[in-house]
Amino acid sequence: MCGIIAYFGNTPRGTGKNVAPILIDGLKKLEYRGYDSAGICLLNNGELYSAKVKGRVSELEKLALDLKQSNIGIAHTRWATHGEPNEINAHPHFDCKNEIAVVHNGIIENYTTLKEILEKEGHKFVSKTDTEVLSHLIEKFYNGNLEEAVMKTLELVVGTFGIAVLHKNENKIVVARRGSPIILGVGENENIIASDAVAVLPYTKKVVYLNDNEMVILTDGKYEIRNFDGQVLEKEIDEIKWTASQIEKKGYEHFMLKEIFEQPEAIENTLRGRIDEDLNVRLSIDKIDFNLVERILIVACGTAWHSGLVAKYLIEKIAKIPVEVDYGSEFRYRDPIVSKKDLLVVISQSGETADSLAALREAKNKGAQTLGIINVVGSTVSREVDAGIYLHAGPEIGVASTKAFTCMLTAVTLLSLFLAQHKKIIIEKEFFNDIKLLPGKVDEVLKQSEKILEIAEKFKDTKNFFFLGRGLSFPIALEGALKVKETSYIHAEGYPAGEMKHGHIALIDDELISVFIATKDHTYTKILSNMEEVHARGGKVIAVVNGDDNAVLNLTKDIIRVPECREELMPIINTVALQLLAYYIANFKGIDVDKPKNLAKSVTVE
Ligand code: AGP
Repeated sequence: MCGIIAYFGNTPRGTGKNVAPILIDGLKKLEYRGYDSAGICLLNNGELYSAKVKGRVSELEKLALDLKQSNIGIAHTRWATHGEPNEINAHPHFDCKNEIAVVHNGIIENYTTLKEILEKEGHKFVSKTDTEVLSHLIEKFYNGNLEEAVMKTLELVVGTFGIAVLHKNENKIVVARRGSPIILGVGENENIIASDAVAVLPYTKKVVYLNDNEMVILTDGKYEIRNFDGQVLEKEIDEIKWTASQIEKKGYEHFMLKEIFEQPEAIENTLRGRIDEDLNVRLSIDKIDFNLVERILIVACGTAWHSGLVAKYLIEKIAKIPVEVDYGSEFRYRDPIVSKKDLLVVISQSGETADSLAALREAKNKGAQTLGIINVVGSTVSREVDAGIYLHAGPEIGVASTKAFTCMLTAVTLLSLFLAQHKKIIIEKEFFNDIKLLPGKVDEVLKQSEKILEIAEKFKDTKNFFFLGRGLSFPIALEGALKVKETSYIHAEGYPAGEMKHGHIALIDDELISVFIATKDHTYTKILSNMEEVHARGGKVIAVVNGDDNAVLNLTKDIIRVPECREELMPIINTVALQLLAYYIANFKGIDVDKPKNLAKSVTVE
């Protein structure tokens, strides 16, 4: 997810016709969408003036204000998806002749194919980004009309984009979208384009929301909206009713809640382009020699470690490869036995967690091949592994990890299938159909939020929770407990339900609340028995069950119903229910859910 902004105005605003401060101010408001690098490009008298930096918008500000004054410009703050965060990969990107500048939010899925074609035609690329293919394609099609060249370019693109384009010879800005948000702010003799309204609000509340396959051409104080066939469209002007803070959180009270509700889209982005039409899993991790791999070692911390435990169950079940899972903080100090026949998989949202990084280095030193499953592109871990799978979950601002976790689960599921296919194990077609239905199933869980809110209110003053599950639900029980601990500061423990009788059941009383994940799988009848054991001793139960399952009605009325799905995908479904439970309990307790006490978003120290 990145932030783009573009401005064309002929009102001397404040410091005269200087668009740079307007663009920089807009980028600062969009930084929550991405902040690893930034860039700007201004058009003045047939020349383009640009500046790009690695780092925050504040780094760009100094350079931008020194550029030639102008009233036409585009700018970008990046959340890297292809090509690590550095000045070269920062937007805008240019054509061979530096006459065309493009800023882009989205993912061009077929960029490698397009890049090969363009390179064969003599185009020279300087960056590692997918976006740069756009500037060279526009150059290829440009024949004196920028919007026509942009339309021809976008016909070839597979993927998502929100773009703004300048050509040095044309006093206009061409903007287009498919799958990435673009909003047009309509001012008095000035128009502003942005990835969302928060950057437009200081100048106007009058907005037009662009739909997919629509473009807008900004000229001197005017704008024209067209579809990709070139037909002019009349669209009504709306009025923004939100404050800036509400817009950043899309109206949600916290980033954590926004990110919980972003999960259908985030999971779609993790899946995007990774299952081809022949149902082959495509992960671009060919640098790993999988013929050498006899064992997989997974290292991670916290929530990421829970995804590693799910990965163990899935890889062993689907790909029949032995897997060990270690906490990074333990692995690095236990002098582990590691050889070149091991594949070390490090899972990390930030890619900067010190314990996971140290474990990675330990395993590399002992000869293992290494694979990263990471959200932050260009992070230290992503630069030190032999190959990587990016989550494409977008920035996760809430300290408690939510969408990154379900995207990790999605990624490790894809990895399990990839490994199986590499071993010529046949995967049934139904599995892939079920994966495609995942975002919709997660949506169904989100629709239970009212019911989960009621349960959270009823149990918000609980002092102790057990979270219990079997099989693939055991790691999710651990994750549910962690979510409650780190957001509402309530003591919660996750256990394999089968372990209850080995001691934990001694704690059961009418104050300790046991949350059971009791969705249908091969351990279902056993989990029901465990619930009965707790109930028979006066313990209170909250149950997560599938759809219309009423087998637990005699044990509890506090039931969270989630859609049925194949067993291997239920961890993703069940997690979302427990994330909401934890969030609502914490919110009832008035805790700052986005910044819980004592916690950091990335633990870069031991
Ligand atoms: C998860 O809610 C926590 N914020 C924490 O456990 C986190 O998962 C852990 O610190 C690992 O972080 P990473 O994924 O960035 O490596």
